[in-house]
Amino acid sequence: MEPLLKAEHLTKTFHSQGREAYTAVDDVSFSMFPGEKLAIIGESGSGKTTVVNMVTRLLDVTSGTITLDGEDITHYRGRQMKKIYRKMQMVFQTPSDSFDPRRTLGDGIAESLINHGAGKKEAMLQAEDLLGLCGLEKEFAKRYPHEVSGGQCQRAAIARAIAIGPKLLILDEATSALDVTVQKDILELLTKLKEERNMSYLFICHDIALVQNFCDRVLVMYHGKIVEEGVPDEVVRHPREAYTKNLIDCIL
Ligand SMILES: Nc1ncnc2c1ncn2[C@@H]1O[C@H](COP(=O)(O)OP(=O)(O)OP(=O)(O)O)[C@@H](O)[C@H]1O
Ligand SMILES: [Mg+2]
Repeated sequence: MEPLLKAEHLTKTFHSQGREAYTAVDDVSFSMFPGEKLAIIGESGSGKTTVVNMVTRLLDVTSGTITLDGEDITHYRGRQMKKIYRKMQMVFQTPSDSFDPRRTLGDGIAESLINHGAGKKEAMLQAEDLLGLCGLEKEFAKRYPHEVSGGQCQRAAIARAIAIGPKLLILDEATSALDVTVQKDILELLTKLKEERNMSYLFICHDIALVQNFCDRVLVMYHGKIVEEGVPDEVVRHPREAYTKNLIDCIL
């Protein structure tokens, strides 16, 4: 099977003024297959967000290549990006980051559809359906981000992210800000969407128990490198690296 996403030798060195160059991601390679739920864990500052920001092209790579669905997207910009966002979308830690505070959730979701060619009326109807799919009543389309709870806003953010039918959803701490029961609801929603749409998830997370329950495979990052990879249960029970063992002991 062809990988959906292939990251090869990704490296990111930041050159900030007045400071020494800092390599936040150092020669990271991994593949993701269609339908897979892959987690990246690692202590704060280990480079997880930098990896996903390179993958989604929010950040230029220093070196390495990114292949999405067989296409080298490493240096894509502008209009080319629009094409890749049909296949890959992100959900952020702060649910309201996905929306403009001055516009309704319905408008926010419809915007994504309109950007990809839908008519205005049709987009609004689809936005309501998507909210429904994500467990929110139609009337939520008329609400503003500040008029809903964090969990409801994250459902709407997922509705927005899946609107144009991406194959890959990248979730960077997308459930971390939510309380455990809401977290569980969101994971159930993701599981349902995966079954209905055969989606793949790249899941950045601090919660090892959640990774064990939800993900098929985990990468452990430390100081910008992947130090361990495996099935979450095995990695938790028999960590090969001292760092992974420490990380798990700290989290559990
Ligand atoms: N724009 C930047 N300029 C300079 N250094 C940066 C920049 N962005 C990130 N870094 C540094 O790169 C390292 C990795 O950051 P990154 O955000 O990828 O970590 P992370 O694993 O996502 O951490 P967390 O779990 O806290 O979100 C950190 O030391 C950070 O300070
Ligand atoms: Mg991060």
